[in-house]
Amino acid sequence: MAGRLQDKVAIVTGTGRGIGAAIARAFAAQGAQVVIAEIDKIAGTAVATETEGLFCRCDVTDQADIDATIRQTLDRFGRIDILVNNAGANVFHRPHEMPRSEWARCMALDLEAGWAMSEAVLPDMRARGAGAIVNIASTHGFKIIPHTFPYPVAKHGLIGLTRSLGIEYAAEGIRVNAIAPGYVDTVIAQAYWDTFEDPAAERRKAEQLHPPGRIGRPEEVAMTAVFLASDEATFINAETITIDGGRSALFHD
Ligand SMILES: NC(=O)c1ccc[n+]([C@@H]2O[C@H](COP(=O)([O-])OP(=O)(O)OC[C@H]3O[C@@H](n4cnc5c(N)ncnc54)[C@H](O)[C@@H]3O)[C@@H](O)[C@H]2O)c1
Repeated sequence: MAGRLQDKVAIVTGTGRGIGAAIARAFAAQGAQVVIAEIDKIAGTAVATETEGLFCRCDVTDQADIDATIRQTLDRFGRIDILVNNAGANVFHRPHEMPRSEWARCMALDLEAGWAMSEAVLPDMRARGAGAIVNIASTHGFKIIPHTFPYPVAKHGLIGLTRSLGIEYAAEGIRVNAIAPGYVDTVIAQAYWDTFEDPAAERRKAEQLHPPGRIGRPEEVAMTAVFLASDEATFINAETITIDGGRSALFHD
């Protein structure tokens, strides 16, 4: 049986572990050819081997790496159907204590890279009149947790980028959507809990914040990315799907 992404060519950034690796696995399982655009050569190569994908060592904040990734993808597959902007990192500070360089680091990775990668795939997608871009934003893209500055600024911007590009290119057959996960069980989440005195208690607290009593799994984000990237979602555009077990809908008393 044909997969939901059969023979589509998908570049997924930040694919060495966590949500990006889960997206690469889910896309490959649905028949896509996956380009593993990852800064960490060892982790990226392992995921590429597992998914029979193409590894391109790529720092998404480096234009030369982006250009090389696009070139290698087009040389190998001849087209780009899907881009998933997943690479990102928590940059958490109290605003008045933050070195200016941290603002630049956060914006470069969590916001500008999404545009730089989109800009790089647009010529091929526009030439063929088809394409799907999926940005991995965050519930930080709507709401603010104190002392996590400037990550939410970048993720609000990424949702703005999604809506903006979605409108600009809709008439050319290109859809741009985002996913806003709440807590997902990855190294990034554990690293955040590890900044507290009792990481296990912090994890339990995070689990209890979510109505199902647990946090999300990378695979749950990946399956939503499959849907948004596929031809099942052809009239969904400039939209952001929240994946947080209902946490955002809960009114704490
Ligand atoms: N884990 C969560 O709770 C959570 C929640 C909401 C949103 N997100 C978002 O999901 C995305 C993935 O998060 P994760 O938890 O899987 O993170 P992670 O840290 O586990 O994985 C990130 C991957 O991106 C790679 N990477 C980092 N910088 C890169 C760069 N400059 N160029 C290319 N690759 C780079 C890393 O090497 C790593 O393989 C991020 O955008 C993050 O903001 C995560």
